[in-house]
Amino acid sequence: MENEKLKRSFIQKIANFCKRKGFVFPCCEIYGGFSGFYDFGPLGVELKKNIKDEWWNTFVRQRDDVVGIDGCTVTHSMIWKASGHVESFTDPLVECKKCHKRFRGDHLIEDAIGLSVDGITIEQINEIIKKHNLKCPNCKGELTSAKAFNLMFKTFVGAVEDDAHIAYLRPETAQLIFTDFRLVMEVSRLRPPFGIAQIGRVYRNEISPRDFLFRLREFEQMEIEYFVHPDRVNECPYLTEELLNFEMNVYSAEMQQKGEKVKKMSLREILEKNIIKTKWHGYWLALMYKWFMDLGVNPEKLRIRQHLPEERSHYALDTWDIEYRFPFGWKEIHGMANRTTFDLTQHMKFSGKDLRYFDEKTKEKIIPYVVAEPSQGVERAFLTFIIDAYTEEEDRIVLKLHPKLAPYKVAVFPLVSKDGLDEKAKEIHNTLKKKFACFYDDKGSIGRRYARQDEIGTPFCITVDYQTMEDNTVTIRDRNTKEQVRIKITNLESIIRKLIEGEIKFSELKKQNSI
Ligand code: GLY
Repeated sequence: MENEKLKRSFIQKIANFCKRKGFVFPCCEIYGGFSGFYDFGPLGVELKKNIKDEWWNTFVRQRDDVVGIDGCTVTHSMIWKASGHVESFTDPLVECKKCHKRFRGDHLIEDAIGLSVDGITIEQINEIIKKHNLKCPNCKGELTSAKAFNLMFKTFVGAVEDDAHIAYLRPETAQLIFTDFRLVMEVSRLRPPFGIAQIGRVYRNEISPRDFLFRLREFEQMEIEYFVHPDRVNECPYLTEELLNFEMNVYSAEMQQKGEKVKKMSLREILEKNIIKTKWHGYWLALMYKWFMDLGVNPEKLRIRQHLPEERSHYALDTWDIEYRFPFGWKEIHGMANRTTFDLTQHMKFSGKDLRYFDEKTKEKIIPYVVAEPSQGVERAFLTFIIDAYTEEEDRIVLKLHPKLAPYKVAVFPLVSKDGLDEKAKEIHNTLKKKFACFYDDKGSIGRRYARQDEIGTPFCITVDYQTMEDNTVTIRDRNTKEQVRIKITNLESIIRKLIEGEIKFSELKKQNSI
């Protein structure tokens, strides 16, 4: 398929770029790699940390109604029996009878006939394979019928390897939020509406991991479970005028079913027309959409898409994804389900513990209702930010990352490494690195040094030249425009901080006297 080819070659280009620049490496490359696992290199670890910090600062630290936890990744098997994952967290597996290669049934169909079949049942997969006489993509051998393959990694805890000691590596962070729910509520003295957030590793034994960071076997999630009173799913006190006027590209299930086009709508219109069923769900979708935009993602490449009923997970009443238009098509970068009281009810049943809270208004014990579960993989966000920022210009590659996300905020260069310019530059670097991720470079021509920083997304470069030695000023260069301005060394720290925070634009620097 044309699109499939385009996708593979584009993704390969980005994967090569990420490896060459030290963002992402294939895991265990010296042993031939390890499918579905990637390591993050010196720049990748910084970018990833910045993404997680931005998310945590925005949705936990800056809010009074969300607190965090950090749960274990090796987990009690009862969690996953209660949550339904032992039974339902599966993908359709087909095997070649000749070469015994295994494939994910829905992906095999997508690749072979270009049909998108998200959420398709095992029976439907078998029918399509039969109807189109699909064969093994590897050796053209005959395929087995599809069967459900559970994606959870199993292990044994302790010295005995029997059924009683099975544990699972968690496939989502959400369940630890549910199992810790009672303790969090007690210690934080919060009552619905409130949320619990978590960032952490999860594991999924994907049948066919692919597309670089898109489908991994180990990745990190950033999730919130937001709990409300079940009768108050529309009582959201945070819907400001500004947020109600916020516009998103919308693609509801009904629009998809009717073959309509994506439409730009304000949150107000979306809620008034009942396109998103609860105010809380709309509120959280708008916040998460805005988060991507505030960190520089092109809003025209974002949309919210509602899951079709057959796509929804076993626990979801309604799910909306935020999707990004990659050069090869729209892909999910954020998922947000309404999980109702499903999980807490199940855990009450399986644990025998009361997870209800006492509602002061009605004087009743209530099972909190998860009206929205903002959930996203850190690695997909990482890929979105990189791809959205990656720009090929005539004479350079430039990674136009938002300064808050850039691995290095600033690089410091001496124009030449003599006449004291290098000592001065090192002095500036030593001061600035206490405040910002800062890089020092004195190797090669100044042009090459700028180009190296442009490619890894460093928004500002400081150059010490002969004039510096006379008047204690340096040049500061803007990555996106290549423009330069002279500023006093004493003002460097505050100006860089303002530029990163967006309190001042680079173009405005030029207009100021004596900076
Ligand atoms: N907790 C939702 C998900 O992992 O997809």
